[in-house]
Amino acid sequence: MKVFVVGGGGREHAIIRKLAESPRVDILYCAPGNGGISCDAECVDISAMDIDGVVRFAKEQGIDFVVVAPDDPLAAGMVDRLEEAGIPAFGPTAQAAKIESSKVFAKNLMKKYGIPTAAYQVFTRSQDALEFLRQNDTYPLAIKADGLALGKGVILAADREEAEQAVRTLMEDKIFGASGDQIVIEEFITGPEVSVLAFTDGKTLKPMVSSKDHKRALDGDQGKNTGGMGTISPNPHYDEAMAERCSRTIFQPTIEALQKEGRPFKGCLYFGLMLTKDGPKVIEYNARFGDPETQVVLPRLQTDLMEILLAVVEERLAEVDIQWSPEASACVVMASEGYPGPYPKGLEIQGLDSHGQVDGAVVYHAGTSRRDGKFYTNGGRVLGVTATGKTLPEALEKAYAAVGKISFPGAHYRKDIGKR
Ligand code: AMP
Ligand code: GLY
Repeated sequence: MKVFVVGGGGREHAIIRKLAESPRVDILYCAPGNGGISCDAECVDISAMDIDGVVRFAKEQGIDFVVVAPDDPLAAGMVDRLEEAGIPAFGPTAQAAKIESSKVFAKNLMKKYGIPTAAYQVFTRSQDALEFLRQNDTYPLAIKADGLALGKGVILAADREEAEQAVRTLMEDKIFGASGDQIVIEEFITGPEVSVLAFTDGKTLKPMVSSKDHKRALDGDQGKNTGGMGTISPNPHYDEAMAERCSRTIFQPTIEALQKEGRPFKGCLYFGLMLTKDGPKVIEYNARFGDPETQVVLPRLQTDLMEILLAVVEERLAEVDIQWSPEASACVVMASEGYPGPYPKGLEIQGLDSHGQVDGAVVYHAGTSRRDGKFYTNGGRVLGVTATGKTLPEALEKAYAAVGKISFPGAHYRKDIGKR
């Protein structure tokens, strides 16, 4: 098979390295890919948002299967367009991807079908939202832009002043454009967070092993929110009993709800959960593999990934037996100086071999370029250094030992991944 992956970060690198293990896969392409991905797949210079370009390339090259990994092209209907062109594609249609691209849609869906989530209200006019805040005396609150906002559309407001500021920046200053036309104001809930990715063909859902993200930039969960500074799998807070409960009260009901709404979801559905004292609740849905969750989940997959992706698209996931390794895995993200704010690019990375790897770990490239056999930084998150071990401490020790062999000017990474 000729398989084409759309995207260019650490998540895509992890997908590509797993697909490369499949006896069914002959050639891998990636658009746009990155320096590390170019060691494992043929990278093509097409933007992940260029739907026409992706469809044209897939037709010209006789691609057998496309994996659309990032949120934006999914929300924009890339999978719909590939299907229209007769090219099998993994990922939800735009209609189904709405579960991520509209928080208002997701919250209303959960309310309608009794899926546990934080209490909320939707506002379409800033005056109404500000009036609500004046009447409200319980803080903090979570204030969320309806649409996609590069993972920055959630503001946790400690008091009324911060909340009013958030409403104004989203709805009046429109810092995320039309994504702020509507907002959700949510009750603040607390508890350990768990990420669960699941394969689903719209009828059957098979959860993957759990993971835990570390969203804040600095040790001790300080600093700004980022796309994710590191992950571990499994998530120590998520046991068999909790998995069973989530399946019954959240996963299954979500798939059925999407079916009943005429938006069957095929692809990877990501459940961002909070284990509150009143039980597990949904914080967010993503219509795709998480990043950097994928980097710790897929290394534990023992079943042929290509076979699973085909079964999802052909709606026969129920037939596939998916096996996972009992080992633990850990991913430490090495980021550019300044991330998640502005950062420099083009700095040489030392310590990687000619394939962009180091001994004792797997290095998933998130933001790198490659020139004359050397690797350079080319993004905020640069590398996801990942290792597996019999126990979580063993996996972490291996990952951090590998991180110690790699350097670039200003590199920063959290020293406390998996420590709490
Ligand atoms: P998101 O961008 O949706 O992943 O949200 C970012 C982070 O905000 C989540 O990982 C949570 O830690 C936090 N968060 C979102 N919604 C709530 C809420 N209702 N209560 C408390 N924390 C929240
Ligand atoms: N790591 C969180 C996400 O992929 O959105």
